[in-house]
Amino acid sequence: MEKHLIYLFLMVGLLFSCNENKKVLTKVDQKISVNDYNNESEAYELLKTQCYICHSVTSASHDEIIAPPMAAIKMRYSRTYRTKESFVEAVSNWAIDPKLENGLMRGAIKQFNVMPKQAFKKEDLKKIASYMYENELEVPDWFAEHEKEMHGNRGGMGKNK
Ligand code: HEC
Repeated sequence: MEKHLIYLFLMVGLLFSCNENKKVLTKVDQKISVNDYNNESEAYELLKTQCYICHSVTSASHDEIIAPPMAAIKMRYSRTYRTKESFVEAVSNWAIDPKLENGLMRGAIKQFNVMPKQAFKKEDLKKIASYMYENELEVPDWFAEHEKEMHGNRGGMGKNK
């Protein structure tokens, strides 16, 4: 009887310690992956819901767009703003209060008018702009062809006159 009790205690103890270990492990795992993943996916969600409505990546042709694709904006802005800091600053400053005289994309402004001012949050814009700087952005299917036609082999978006 006494022996059985000792076994029982041992078994319970073992089970308990296994479970505890497991809990600690999964907690740590989750912490790392959730943190890493969330910042990126949160910024991408913001980009999709707040910017891609106009800066569409799924438009079928150049004729039906209402704003340039974000990848084109990234190209133009990274020519003028080469560090991540200045790029993020410039893109978020623009979006918080778009003003004709601050615009870099003269051709786009002529074609679509100045981007309408909207109630974005500065902190969201910074996340979006950092994401834009760090990641390759999707382009619509027609984009490569348009680039070649409009801007030849000068690279990027040409002079944007
Ligand atoms: C309601 C439509 C609309 C939405 C939403 C929108 N944009 Fe724009 N955006 C435009 C248009 C149109 C242009 C092209 C004309 C221009 O450059 O102002 C533009 C141009 C830009 C430019 C280039 C400005 C320049 O000329 O130097 C930046 C940068 C930009 N958008 C960032 C953003 C960001 C970031 C978001 C999301 C937070 C966003 N836009 C959401 C319509 C929109």
